[in-house]
Amino acid sequence: MNTEQAAVRYICSLFQGNAGGHDAAHSLRVYRNALLIAEKEGEGDREVIALAALLHDADDHKLFRTEDNANARTFLEEHGVTKIPEILAAVNAVSFSQNRGRRPTTPEGRIVQDADRLDAIGAIGIARAFAFGGEHGRSLDATIRHFGEKLLLLRDGMNTRTGRELAEERHRFMEQFLERYCTETGEGGAVPAESARQGDAG
Ligand code: ADP
Ligand code: NI
Repeated sequence: MNTEQAAVRYICSLFQGNAGGHDAAHSLRVYRNALLIAEKEGEGDREVIALAALLHDADDHKLFRTEDNANARTFLEEHGVTKIPEILAAVNAVSFSQNRGRRPTTPEGRIVQDADRLDAIGAIGIARAFAFGGEHGRSLDATIRHFGEKLLLLRDGMNTRTGRELAEERHRFMEQFLERYCTETGEGGAVPAESARQGDAG
């Protein structure tokens, strides 16, 4: 078993019991999106991107009380990975709030951040938003507001050309969804994207 396969196993056990938004399946989608973007962009270190994507939520403060990337670091050390600083730097560059909105400074960070954001938009983004809303006891309309506050803003914040292209389709699909939602609920106009950027883009 190579390190990537071991990382897949590791996150499957780590996220056991988490349904919906933050499960191993999310990290696997981010991994696939990140490798796709890296291939099309022709930049970044593949090993760093793959392991950073797989481990990007392994120390998410919403789920784990670890410090200093302890889960990811321990896994990487136990598997004799040499690029630990690069991988953890990419992991830590992904979170929008932790970095006060600054763009990641490395191609690996930019690619994994785009991959994570892609999973928050489109059909999968809609599914995750309602799963999050349900988990937190929010009404459907409260979750719909999250689209205007955050999800409709993600497209314009993408770092890579490939990320932007993939985000474009997903963005349009969300707009169509919102339009229908408003038609069916009798609320008229679609949800506007807020002009001010805010919220945690992951
Ligand atoms: P990640 O760390 O994987 O980027 P987050 O922890 O920010 O993701 O959010 C997990 C999922 O829950 C995302 O799909 C996000 O859009 C959704 N989410 C976060 N906050 C809200 C909210 N207030 N209402 C609805 N969905 C939300
Ligand atoms: Ni994530």
